[in-house]
Amino acid sequence: MTKFSSFAQTLQSSDIADLLALTEKPEVISFAGGLPAPELFPIEEMKKVDQAIYEKEGRKAVQYGTTEGYVPLREEICKRMKNKFFVDCEPKDVVVTTGSQQALFILSQILVDMDQTVCMESPSYMGAIMAFDPVRPKYIEVPTDDKGIVPEELDKILAADDSIRMIYVIPEFQNPTGITWPIERRKQFMEVINKYDVTVLEDDPYGEIRYDIEKLPSLKSMDTQGKVVFLGSFSKIFMPGLRLGWIVANPQIIDKFVKYKQAVDLGTSTFGQRQAAYFCQMFDMEKHIKEICALYAKRRTLMYDSMKKYFPEGVTFTYPQGGLFTWVTMPEKLDAKEMMPKCLAKNVAYVPGGIFYPNGGNGNHFRLNYSNMPEDRIVEGIKRLGDVLKEELSK
Ligand SMILES: Cc1ncc(COP(=O)(O)O)c(C=O)c1O
Repeated sequence: MTKFSSFAQTLQSSDIADLLALTEKPEVISFAGGLPAPELFPIEEMKKVDQAIYEKEGRKAVQYGTTEGYVPLREEICKRMKNKFFVDCEPKDVVVTTGSQQALFILSQILVDMDQTVCMESPSYMGAIMAFDPVRPKYIEVPTDDKGIVPEELDKILAADDSIRMIYVIPEFQNPTGITWPIERRKQFMEVINKYDVTVLEDDPYGEIRYDIEKLPSLKSMDTQGKVVFLGSFSKIFMPGLRLGWIVANPQIIDKFVKYKQAVDLGTSTFGQRQAAYFCQMFDMEKHIKEICALYAKRRTLMYDSMKKYFPEGVTFTYPQGGLFTWVTMPEKLDAKEMMPKCLAKNVAYVPGGIFYPNGGNGNHFRLNYSNMPEDRIVEGIKRLGDVLKEELSK
């Protein structure tokens, strides 16, 4: 028998993971994953990109690179940080990561010790909980409302616990709720965190996928004390399989982060980084993002209208102005995990909401993704979910 570390022993398969595995069957209309629409991956353009990389850089393109990342890509990221997130930064402030998922893991490793506290919005991205778990932190869930985190509640929590090292937030088109913090909320949040000795992880993989809302300043753009680490990603605006993300942080954090990342993977794929940088140079990334936004906005509206039509009274849902998800709240007597087998029997699936709460509970929610399913399947899937909801509520 292999003897595992105590952390590895905690890695058990869960009944939710078993249920989610069933959602991958082709006959299932799955609103479960957070997958981009594959029909928009720019495959023809990438054939030209790959050829250009080999012609221009030859073998250098597949040699090891620096841990910080390929400089032209970091320069491109700085331009995007300025234009999209209102942040002034230079390549030295940026590290390219193997997806923002890796950044979540490394940041928790360098900022938090076992039994110290991590604060996150309630609910929050389950992948972040997974990334932070190896540190074995305590989690405090900060109450949220329809405008995002509630700053007064965060203030009380921070005042009461000096073991809090890290606050993890998703201010734009949150995963799972789809909620975006208005500017006032962002300012109030920054006023609160500036009073305490904590680091904020601002995770923003969806900020460029916006439909009917002006760009808002990121928390990092309001950060006067170097407390905010910005996490960006190419997964949703480009292609997730390249596994490309980045952080922008203060020099001390960059230094520790790079040292830790060296141990993890030496550096992010040198070829993949060139693919993103060359694509931005050779093609129009903004046009590409506009096409993504147009398709997802159409699917968002269709899903929303279908829910209004087919979901029974008492079931509420968010209207996201960007991102990939909407969040459904059922009357408390219903439990989304228990309801899942009934939905799977009708070949339709979602993610039960309980797993987005690090301390559990809250079974009466579920998350729906609208980016990945074609329009006819969205309408049919929501109709089937509506049927199950009506049946369950009539009991
Ligand atoms: C909020 C959030 N952060 C991070 C990630 C991970 O993204 P990446 O593909 O860049 O690792 C995701 C993926 O869905 C996400 O929703």
